[in-house]
Amino acid sequence: MDDGSPDRTAPPDVAALARRLPKVELHCHLEGSARPETIAELARNNGVVLPVEDPRELFEFHDLNSFIAVYEIICRSLRTAEDFRRLTYEALDDGAAAGVRYREMFFSPGFVIGMGVPIEVVWEGIVAGLREAETDLDIRCRMILDIDKPSGPAPAEALVRFAGTQDRDVLIGVGGDSTERDIDHRAFAEAFALAGRLGLRRTVHAGEDGPAENVAIALDVLGCERIDHGVRVLEDPELTARVAAAQVPLTVCPISNVVIANLCADVASHPFGALRAAGILATVNSDDPGMQGTTIADDYAQVAAGFGYDLTTMETIALDGIGASWAPADEKDALRKRFLAEFDELRSEAGLALRHEPT
Ligand code: HPA
Ligand code: ZN
Repeated sequence: MDDGSPDRTAPPDVAALARRLPKVELHCHLEGSARPETIAELARNNGVVLPVEDPRELFEFHDLNSFIAVYEIICRSLRTAEDFRRLTYEALDDGAAAGVRYREMFFSPGFVIGMGVPIEVVWEGIVAGLREAETDLDIRCRMILDIDKPSGPAPAEALVRFAGTQDRDVLIGVGGDSTERDIDHRAFAEAFALAGRLGLRRTVHAGEDGPAENVAIALDVLGCERIDHGVRVLEDPELTARVAAAQVPLTVCPISNVVIANLCADVASHPFGALRAAGILATVNSDDPGMQGTTIADDYAQVAAGFGYDLTTMETIALDGIGASWAPADEKDALRKRFLAEFDELRSEAGLALRHEPT
C-alpha cells in the first residue's frame, strides 16, 4: 500500500539523497557558472558577436584547451558592473538551488581588464551581487581572485596587489587557473609570496592537465594551502602520502574532469575513490556548472552512484567541505551544526536511522 510514508525495507537511493545534502563548494568559477541565455544577452548588449547562433552551442568543448577558448569568449562578453552583479547573483541563485550553503568562488578579471574594463568596475558589480544574494538567498559566499597563468607573472602581481587592498572577509584569497601545459608554476613564486604577505589565502589549479610535480611546486614554492583538482598527485606515491598526512584539501571536480579535461570516461572511473582511499581530504565541487550544464548536486549524485558510497560517507564528504574551507572557526562550527541537523531531517524524511541525536 502506498500511503506516502517511506518504504523502510527498500535500500536507500543514496544518489538521490546526496543531491539534497547541504553542501560547501570551494571550486566554482563565476564566469563558468554563467547561464547560456545570460551570456547571449550580455554579449548582445555589449556589442560582442558570439561565434554561434544558439548560446548553448558555445558551451561545447572537447578538452581543456577548447574549453578555455570558450571561457575567454564568455569573460570578454562582460563589461559593466551590472553585468558582474547579475552574473554573481545568478551563480549564487543556481548554487543555492543545488544545496550550496557556503561557497568560495573564483573570478577571473584578467580578460576584461585586457578589454579596458577597470578591475574596480568588476569588483563593484561582484560585491553588489554577493550582498543581494545574501539578502535574498540561503547562501554565503567569499571570492577568490583567479590569475590566468598563461598571461604570466607580471599581471599576476598587479592583481594580487589589488586583492590586497580589499576587505579580506569578502575577497579571501588568490588562485591560478587555465592550462598547465608549457607553464612553469615557479614563475608565480613572487606573486604568491606577495599574496601571503598581504594575508591572502592561496590555492592553485595543479595536477589537472599537468603532472604531480605541479602539486609539489604549489605547496613548496607557492605556499598553497589548498590544491584545485590535484588528482594527478596519485602518480607520485610519496607526494600522495604527504598530502594525505598534512590533510591538504583537494577541490576535486569529478564531472568537469570527464567533460572538460577528458581525464576519464565517466565519474565511476575517476580517481576520486582512490584519493579518498589514500586518506586525502578530497572534496566534491562542480568547477564550471553553467558551461557544463550541471550543478554540484550532479557531482554528489554521480560520486555516490559511481563509488557505491553510503549516505554516511556522502555526509562526511559534505562535512569535509566545511573543514577545507577558509571560513572563520565560528562560522565553520555553525555550518557543522546546521549540516548535522539537516542530515537528520533528510534521514528522517527517508525513514533512515538518524546519524546524530538532535541536540
Ligand atoms: N581548469 C583550468 N582552467 C579553468 C578551469 C579549470 O578547472 N575552470 C575555468 N578555467
Ligand atoms: Zn577550475
